[in-house]
Amino acid sequence: MSNNKNSKDSKLHGISKYHELDLKTDASEQLNEVYSNWADSYDDDNDSKLKTVSQPNTVAMLMRHCSTKQPRIFDVGCGTGIVGQHLQANGFTNFDGTDPSLEMMEHARNRGYANLLKLIPGEPLPTADNTYDASLCVGVFTHGHLGPEGFLELIRVTKPNGLICFTVNEGVWDSEGFEAAIEQHSEADEWEVLEMTKQDYMVNEGVQAWYVAVRVLG
Ligand SMILES: C[S@@+](CC[C@H](N)C(=O)[O-])C[C@H]1O[C@@H](n2cnc3c(N)ncnc32)[C@H](O)[C@@H]1O
Repeated sequence: MSNNKNSKDSKLHGISKYHELDLKTDASEQLNEVYSNWADSYDDDNDSKLKTVSQPNTVAMLMRHCSTKQPRIFDVGCGTGIVGQHLQANGFTNFDGTDPSLEMMEHARNRGYANLLKLIPGEPLPTADNTYDASLCVGVFTHGHLGPEGFLELIRVTKPNGLICFTVNEGVWDSEGFEAAIEQHSEADEWEVLEMTKQDYMVNEGVQAWYVAVRVLG
């Protein structure tokens, strides 16, 4: 996505305001405002403007590796709940979501989540250790959002032998050291990589992402 800080316009809304963010710097404080502003049009932009395919692709990846019947799933950075929509469509019934933006999560209310929890960036995820059979994190490891330090919390909340499935925008894969961090967690025997492939992400933007599934070790 292009970011032109110089043409910032406070009247911009939704995706336009997102495009204007300088995501090369830590944008966490501005992100909440941008997503709150984008919440009402996010789903349309996801489908029509960006043609984002990360949500169905990640749920499909979960299904390739999950053998637990009705796993308890945590959707971290759930936004408006598009991942939940795909979980529901595929028969999953036991899932929670968490996101920093209450406005985004408002749209997730009718998408099957048992609990929607407020997340504060930089603080521990709002749940106990070893709670979930699978944790998903889709569209969050990207410019200005969350770096590989976020893996520690995903590991903490996921049960031993549980799954973590996530996307990493190709634009931050090398620059933020994602591949090295994934390797470090493998070498520390904290997880085992099951799948790591580069696929379409935002089709209309020509952007791909790495799709990664790992099994948490005990
Ligand atoms: C591109 S959206 C993806 C939303 C949803 N997962 C999807 O695929 O449609 C990124 C989401 O990450 C959330 N977010 C921002 N910073 C975050 C952080 N540090 N941890 C978790 N989520 C964060 C935003 O509020 C936003 O809802």
